[in-house]
Amino acid sequence: MSHLMKIANFYGRFLLSFTAIGYWWRSLFWSRLKADLSGQTWLVTGASGGVGRAIVLGAARYGATVLAAARSAAKLDELVADAVSAGVKGKVVPLVVDFSLKRDVRRFSEQILTEHPRIDVLVNNVGVLLDDFSVTDEGHEMSFATNILSHFMLTERLIEAGALVRGGAVVNMSSGGMYNSPLAIGAMDAKKAEGYNGIRAYAVHKRGQAALTSYWSEVYGSSSGLTFYVMHPGWADTQGVKTSLPRFRRILLWVLRTPAQGADTAIWLGATRPQGTDPAGFWLDRATRSAHAYEFTRKSKHRPVDLANYLKGASAMPAP
Ligand SMILES: NC(=O)c1ccc[n+]([C@@H]2O[C@H](COP(=O)([O-])OP(=O)(O)OC[C@H]3O[C@@H](n4cnc5c(N)ncnc54)[C@H](OP(=O)(O)O)[C@@H]3O)[C@@H](O)[C@H]2O)c1
Repeated sequence: MSHLMKIANFYGRFLLSFTAIGYWWRSLFWSRLKADLSGQTWLVTGASGGVGRAIVLGAARYGATVLAAARSAAKLDELVADAVSAGVKGKVVPLVVDFSLKRDVRRFSEQILTEHPRIDVLVNNVGVLLDDFSVTDEGHEMSFATNILSHFMLTERLIEAGALVRGGAVVNMSSGGMYNSPLAIGAMDAKKAEGYNGIRAYAVHKRGQAALTSYWSEVYGSSSGLTFYVMHPGWADTQGVKTSLPRFRRILLWVLRTPAQGADTAIWLGATRPQGTDPAGFWLDRATRSAHAYEFTRKSKHRPVDLANYLKGASAMPAP
């Protein structure tokens, strides 16, 4: 019974907001985004499918050169072909990388610094929700390495090298899933299959992204001239949802957002870069919302700086 109550509470609370219904209702009050992103370079991770792909196409439509990063060269080639046939004003540059591997994130960061040393907008979008526990050959739980460690390593390296231009933005793609976890550093990088819960791990990483956003705003906000945002795309029908949450998708298919609707706020944030908003605010549909839906997630013995220190330690390469 209490399980049923929880489910009813969950859908009752978020259904109207996170689905296409929320998007449709709120969008009635928006004016059309008028942006010319010509001359800008955007870097989008997890770019070959779902929300990331829609961000790439949207930013390229407004004229940006978009560096689209993902693992599958074939899917990226298809994306480039779709951008060309849609007649986008900008262009899409495909870049192959595996964000679950630190050595590849390092290699990729150096490739960016050499080939594209000026980035206006970084969208840390890559994210996975895994059913099963798996560990990379570098010893990290796969979703931890992908969902937060790679974001930390890439962003820190680009900032340190001065590749993110003053006045630029970093958009961190979190999820409403973070409403289910406080900042919990001990649960970031699961070490055993026993008791592993992919949904819980995902919630921990997504909360971590919000904490990292606060950390980066505080530490680099004024010195780098960058603005950091954390956002939720809403519930969009993507391959990720199809694979990881089939039951959720079956129930909600009729009201799931399109990937383009999920991408809207990322494109809007990157194009307009609102200033003076709550740095801890959680963006959804072009406005900040509370980063907490439940009291228990406000309580953590960890601070954002503790997470940054933990990720710094985890970024180190294993001894050969
Ligand atoms: N869809 C939703 O309803 C929803 C809701 C809340 C939050 N989000 C967040 O939005 C983001 C995108 O979600 P989505 O649903 O669009 O996901 P998706 O459909 O699964 O797409 C994920 C993208 O990431 C790439 N990718 C996955 N693992 C990678 C790796 N190790 N290295 C490089 N690229 C990798 C995939 O391409 P390759 O296979 O080619 O690498 C694909 O392009 C995630 O951070 C997710 O948590 C989504």
